[in-house]
Order: sequence, then C-alpha cells, then structure tokens
Amino acid sequence: MVAVDGPAGSGKSSVSRAAARELGFDYQDSGAAYRALAWNALEHGVDTEDADAVLASLDDFDYRIGTDPDDYFVRVGGTDVTQAIREPRVTGVVSAIARIPAVRERLVELFRRVIEASDRPGIITEGRDITTVVAPDADVRILLTASEEARMARRSAETPEHSARAVAEQLSSRDAQDSRVVDFMNAADGVTTIDSTNLDFDQTVSAVVDLVRTSRVE
Ligand code: DC
Repeated sequence: MVAVDGPAGSGKSSVSRAAARELGFDYQDSGAAYRALAWNALEHGVDTEDADAVLASLDDFDYRIGTDPDDYFVRVGGTDVTQAIREPRVTGVVSAIARIPAVRERLVELFRRVIEASDRPGIITEGRDITTVVAPDADVRILLTASEEARMARRSAETPEHSARAVAEQLSSRDAQDSRVVDFMNAADGVTTIDSTNLDFDQTVSAVVDLVRTSRVE
C-alpha cells in the first residue's frame, strides 16, 4: 500500500496513476470522492454549507470509482461523472464539503474499504490526508511537492482558457482553505518528500516507482 499526498497542481493524480500502471497496482483518487459528493449536492440542491444536510446526503450516495489505472472512472448513482466533477462549479464548493469532520470520517472509511478490496499486488491512494489519517501504516508514504510557481504553471497549462492570474488565485485560495483541515504542505514523520519542481512528468513517475521498488512493497 502506497500513500501519496500533496497540494493542488503537484501532479499527484497523474503521477500516481502512471506509477500504479507501471507497477501493476491499483490507483485510488480520494479527491474524486469529495468532488463526487459535491457534484451530488449541487445536483440535488443540497446546501453545501449545511453540514447536517451534506452528511445526510451520504446515506444514499452510490459512489463507484475505477481503480484500474487503465480504466479510471467515477460514477454516482450510475451516472458517469468523471468529467463533471472537474468543472469549476464543483471545484468551487468542494472545499466546504471537505471541511466537515463527520463527512471526512465517512469518506476515510470508504477509502480504507477500497484499499482492502484491491486484489492487485498493491494500491496507490492519493489525496491530502492519506499519509497521516487514511493509511498512516502504509508501506511507502510520499509527499509530492513542487514550488508554488511550478504548480501554477502546470495548472495554467491544463486550463488555457483561464488567465494565469485567475488560476494562481484559485489555486492558492483552495490550498489555503484545504490546509486549514489537514496539513499536506509538510511531510509527517516517516514520509518521504519528492519535490518535482525540477523534474518532468516521467522523472517524477520514476522517482515514485523507484521508491516503491526499493521499499519492496507487496
Ligand atoms: O485533489 P483534488 O483537487 O481532486 O481534491 C478535491 C478536494 O477534496 C480538495 O479541495 C481537497 C479535498 N481532499 C481532502 O480534503 N482530502 C483528501 N484526501 C482528498 C481531497
């Protein structure tokens, strides 16, 4: 079991997925669950600022995620929301949902169930609190960082329709909101930091794969 945390724009999702593919592991994107819950709230008119209402919405939240790195999908109630959960309207409310402690508890249980259900030689789970809360006993724990400048440049390249300044503002305000809940900017004890500021994508994937291989994770 491999745990990867990091801030927005660190490349942790694409890097973790590519590393999982290379290792023959499963891949779990935990942020997708927070996003899917936010999408579900918007879809059903649940007030995302109302903790009790969001919590109640979890009772019939039919969430499915594809953990095969070659068949990644996110479904809610049978609807494919893989793309929809990346829309700005979802990104705009997801931090409010991720701040609710009781919601976090329920999703942490869900992430652990997905880890246990994996039948591959390993699973890489990535997010913000995987190394510290979800799987503090993981065989390999990684904090994937990059300078703020590098993270912003990568995000701008992903969303060319937005101005670099708008991207920078969104990114830092989301990180500021998210880091009030969990510290994903500093490595906890026993967590290895991989700084990708001066690495390209393939080099970053190799750094993760090498670390896992040298740790002989089964
Ligand atoms: O990684 P992402 O941008 O898809 O994450 C979406 C949101 O969910 C983000 O605002 C932080 C939150 N999140 C979290 O609080 N804990 C996690 N393990 C994963 C994501």
